[in-house]
Amino acid sequence: MLDSVQDYYGKQLQSSADLKTTACCDVSAVPDWLKPLLTEINPQVLSRYYGCGLVCPPLLEGCRVLDLGCGSGRDVYALAQLVGAKGEVIGVDMTDEQLAVAQEHQAWHAEKFGFDNVRFIKGYIEKLDELDLQPGSFDVIVSNCVINLSPDKAAVMQGIHRLLKPGGEFYFSDVYIDRRAPESVRNDSVLYGECLGGALYWNDFLRLAHGGGFADPRLVEDRPLEITDNELLARTGRLQFFSATYRLFKLDALETACEDYGQAVIYHGTIPNLPHGFLLDAHHDIETDRIFPVCGNTWRMLHDTRFADHFTFIGDFRQHYGIFEGCGTALPFASEAATGDKAACC
Ligand SMILES: C[S@@+](CC[C@H](N)C(=O)[O-])C[C@H]1O[C@@H](n2cnc3c(N)ncnc32)[C@H](O)[C@@H]1O
Repeated sequence: MLDSVQDYYGKQLQSSADLKTTACCDVSAVPDWLKPLLTEINPQVLSRYYGCGLVCPPLLEGCRVLDLGCGSGRDVYALAQLVGAKGEVIGVDMTDEQLAVAQEHQAWHAEKFGFDNVRFIKGYIEKLDELDLQPGSFDVIVSNCVINLSPDKAAVMQGIHRLLKPGGEFYFSDVYIDRRAPESVRNDSVLYGECLGGALYWNDFLRLAHGGGFADPRLVEDRPLEITDNELLARTGRLQFFSATYRLFKLDALETACEDYGQAVIYHGTIPNLPHGFLLDAHHDIETDRIFPVCGNTWRMLHDTRFADHFTFIGDFRQHYGIFEGCGTALPFASEAATGDKAACC
């Protein structure tokens, strides 16, 4: 499949308009604070954007960022402006034609931004250890509509975990399905190239993330994908596709469930562009200056990462109060003890 994906993105597609689904991110969904950054990007780079979401988490100034499957470099050049002159963004892609567009405009962007802080490397995301990239050296790794295309997603996850600093995060958009796709869909080269055939059933993705060392994946946003081509629609049948952004923190101490230690945080409203609140994920929209109760994992995602200076932390891990209510997991046992004969029943 790697050859056919290379052919699809290198030769068959010439611009975003050639795609047959709405997987490509609608510009109206881009937050207002990001729109000015996109106007600074070269039109040819923008015209070959094939991503399915947004991969610009907040608070990136000075960060070292890696973009997996960077394509023609739209996200690299957006992120370059966010990390600034003291940061660095490296894009990896396997397709020469995509990298050629990205590199052709590097000097143009350097002149516009006033600094040159990007680098593009040819390589496979399953073999990140073969590239000249130091383990534990990235604050953030991003990827936009690429993991679904990989034939060895477990190797990709392991490589990402190895390259992230402790407390770093993998923040990425990709395509998911509501169930496992049949073989006819998985082996269809056009569906595969369109980021549908290789898309993961969401629960298999969670298992994959756990296996890669990311104990508590957090869903940031999602939207259903529309297949606008009738021929493709006939081949996918009842499968429902979604574009979703997840964030996965490299924190060894994370638990597989949200445990309650009676902790809370207060967001100071000090992260650039986020004066009113901080959205950690779809279930944690933390309002500025308000005491916000959190589970142990959320506490660590804020306390042991680049976000720490922007919060006050209340509590510690000395006392455990059971599972955190409303975090997607409930106590599986009846809350009242059974009486009489039933109590003896196994
Ligand atoms: C759907 S496009 C997304 C490109 C880019 N992220 C964007 O938003 O425009 C997928 C890109 O991933 C690259 N790609 C796919 N599989 C890859 C792999 N196994 N290793 C490296 N690059 C890969 C393709 O060459 C292509 O440029």
